[in-house]
Amino acid sequence: MAAQPTRDDKFSFGLWTVGYNGTDPFGGPTRAPLDVVHVVEKLSELGAYGLTFHDDDLFAFGSSDAERQTQIDRLKGALESTGLIVPMVTTNLFSPPVFKDGGFTSNDRTIRRFALRKVLRNVDLAAELGAKTFVMWGGREGAEYNASKDIRQALERYREAVNLLADYTTSKGYDIRFAIEPKPNEPRGDILLPTLGHAIAFIDTLARPELFGVNPEVGHEQMAGLNYSAGIAQALYSGKLFHIDLNGQRGIKYDQDLVFGHGELYDAFALVDLLENGSPQGGPTYDGPRHFDYKPSRTEDESGVWESVAANMRNYLLLKERAAAFRADPEVQEALQRAKVGELATPTLNQGESIDDLLADRTAFEDFDANAYFDAKGFGFVQLQQLATEHLLGAR
Ligand code: GCO
Ligand code: MN
Ligand code: MN
Repeated sequence: MAAQPTRDDKFSFGLWTVGYNGTDPFGGPTRAPLDVVHVVEKLSELGAYGLTFHDDDLFAFGSSDAERQTQIDRLKGALESTGLIVPMVTTNLFSPPVFKDGGFTSNDRTIRRFALRKVLRNVDLAAELGAKTFVMWGGREGAEYNASKDIRQALERYREAVNLLADYTTSKGYDIRFAIEPKPNEPRGDILLPTLGHAIAFIDTLARPELFGVNPEVGHEQMAGLNYSAGIAQALYSGKLFHIDLNGQRGIKYDQDLVFGHGELYDAFALVDLLENGSPQGGPTYDGPRHFDYKPSRTEDESGVWESVAANMRNYLLLKERAAAFRADPEVQEALQRAKVGELATPTLNQGESIDDLLADRTAFEDFDANAYFDAKGFGFVQLQQLATEHLLGAR
């Protein structure tokens, strides 16, 4: 069975994930707050390599400068004594009531200016702690009612904000890249940049697109009914997979934030295979943090929090083992051949072939037996999926 997680696996957790106290819109907390030093020590003990946080996770919104500094110093001390790192930092532009209509895209200009200042301050902290990625999740950037938000201008203001941030990090010489995290809805009825496709298209319009990528979350794409691993393949293809939020989701409903592997298991299998091994014909893999953005269930006490931390990492490693076995199985290789999966890597036209050549090629059309595909030639995709299933279930 899978090895224990080690630092080389690059597993990281948000302070807000393990720190989630179980509050939901229907009821209060089920757990007491966790102290950051305790969290760092436990994560280190369990095999993680990194901690991530929002400014307000570490020091409450409205803290004095002295209170803020005390918490930063306590975190630094814990990092030093454990060797954990902070690979990513992010800003809370959603909890304080002032952000109910958004931060970068609030209709109220004074709020937009305040949001920018809050983020700039936190970018400085990210640089100070050596974080290489700065995530931006715009949960409040959106609307419930069409007439209440000019989407065109909201996108303009979003662009203005993130272009400014990129100018700032460049002028300061910070080694930081930004990762936009899409989500279709919740807390807003509709959120701007709802899927990774929207985000990648938006990034293309920025002044410094090379500094921006995406931080797609498993459950967020699945809330929109999308295939997460297919989306990740496109993000890798575009060179935009800067960071990743792993968790579990079961179908189109509220954002469940389950443990990774406790949701759509086939998709989790395909995802780990892709991140670790690349596409079937090769292609880029992902070497950034394996970051878990989940919520320990509301039914759990503190021991359940640490059990769920271990479960996230163990499920990832088990799936990594299963994916390696799947790739190494000669029957899988045969099934891939039969399914012509590799043939997709061959360009449709020959090298140097023109459209006129194609038009003159009788084998491509006049003599091509399109009817042969009726009741005769199948692709065998079902057999391939059965082999994947057997590997996933540990039957091979
Ligand atoms: C959510 C989001 C957040 C972000 C976090 C980092 O749905 O609540 O996933 O957890 O990931 O704010 O930016
Ligand atoms: Mn989520
Ligand atoms: Mn997330």
